[in-house]
Amino acid sequence: MKITVLNGSPSGLNSITLQTVLYLEALFPDHSFQYLDPGAKIRLYEKDFSQCAQVLEQADLILFAYPVYTFLVPSQLHRFIELMKENHVNVKGTYATQITTSKHFYDVSAHQFIEDSCDDLGMKYIRGLSADMDDLLKKSGQKEARDFFAYVLYCMDHGHHEPARYPFGYVPEVSDKPEIHLPKPSEHPLIGSTVIVADYEENSRLAKMIEAFRAYLPMNSSVVNLRDFPFRGGCLGCFHCASSGKCVYTDGFDEFLRKNIQSADAIVYAYTIKDHSMGSLFKMYDDRQFCNGHRTVTMGKPIGYLVSGNLHNEPNMAMVMEARSEAGGNFHAGIASDQTDPDSEIRRLAEVIGYAVSHQYNEPRNFYGVGGLKIFRDLIWQMQGLMKEDHRFYKKHGFYDFPQKKMGMMLGMYAVGAMMSNKKLNQKIGGKMTEGMVMPYKQIIEKARQNKE
Ligand SMILES: Cc1cc2nc3c(=O)[nH]c(=O)nc-3n(C[C@H](O)[C@H](O)[C@H](O)COP(=O)(O)O)c2cc1C
Repeated sequence: MKITVLNGSPSGLNSITLQTVLYLEALFPDHSFQYLDPGAKIRLYEKDFSQCAQVLEQADLILFAYPVYTFLVPSQLHRFIELMKENHVNVKGTYATQITTSKHFYDVSAHQFIEDSCDDLGMKYIRGLSADMDDLLKKSGQKEARDFFAYVLYCMDHGHHEPARYPFGYVPEVSDKPEIHLPKPSEHPLIGSTVIVADYEENSRLAKMIEAFRAYLPMNSSVVNLRDFPFRGGCLGCFHCASSGKCVYTDGFDEFLRKNIQSADAIVYAYTIKDHSMGSLFKMYDDRQFCNGHRTVTMGKPIGYLVSGNLHNEPNMAMVMEARSEAGGNFHAGIASDQTDPDSEIRRLAEVIGYAVSHQYNEPRNFYGVGGLKIFRDLIWQMQGLMKEDHRFYKKHGFYDFPQKKMGMMLGMYAVGAMMSNKKLNQKIGGKMTEGMVMPYKQIIEKARQNKE
């Protein structure tokens, strides 16, 4: 069987993910593995895609092997998928699967993006392997990799693959898109500023959405069009920034990010959504923020999105947008799209951001944020010797809330557990458990009542 491996890691041959593929190649010598390197050679492939197209079209199985980068896949691999579509590569009916390594922080959305892209290309997608960075170093991880590949071969032998997510096609784009009107700019702007980080063309619908948003926004705003920024390239995953916070590229992005974007009181991201992605340029911006490590430096600030395009087909991207705000400890002010009622959606977003900034409104993190932060907490704790800035930040903000530190709570639970394991006591107090649990809450309500009186 011919397997075309798409090595999406910018680390090229030094990719950790690639090692799992090389391990499988060693274990399954009856199959031929051919490698393309979108992670490291995307500039080359952009110039001429013909050889890539040929290798892809000859494959029995296309194996996407990449590190999870910022909720999705590295920008270089986003670009490669764009090129597959632009060049009309015919991989219809070819099997596809994926292997990733990561710390499992939003591996789900990365895998969904690849699955959706495979569906677009008419491929037969087989569920992929999401491994932790260290898995291959353990016997259990080696077994999981081996079993995974045997499962893929079994599926191909028997014609099994995942059902397409949109078997009847996508929700069609609104044919007669509503006009976007420009209101009069607000006369008495509030204190504060919002930065709009965008990837847009002049005179596009998105440009108009940005203009309308700025007019509705009750505060000052500035726009950064990523097309004007002289990016030297996508994140290289070299970890050079891990201890110093400085990127190896000398295009000034890290300074720009800190001075022009993170200093604002609110951030709005604006892009056109297409093919389950914000586009490879915007993704490059996202990945390059790695120079900031895992420090949630914009915590507490509202984040919103202006999205042109068919958002109805993009639940995965909508989840990524919310998760990004939640993981950063930001208030998710919402997503305004241009599909059904852009005027009121844009106005709502602008006014909610104005409210959140002026009232310093935030919400507690939900599962997306709490779960994500726990992964980072454990990671930074282990890597504190290297990720010094992150470690300082996590200590300062009390992120190391390991459960074992709550000794009082644990001892209390032992006491309750001991009482409950006594049959007589259990019968006596069993029914009063919830009453006891709700007691401290009742005291708070009582205090609130008294304070009001
Ligand atoms: C720019 C960047 C973004 C990352 N984003 C994530 C992420 O969202 N979730 C995660 O679990 N790991 C993330 N990681 C960690 C990588 O997925 C992990 O280090 C991976 O094993 C690297 O594989 P590679 O050596 O094949 O490139 C990120 C790393 C970098 C450099």
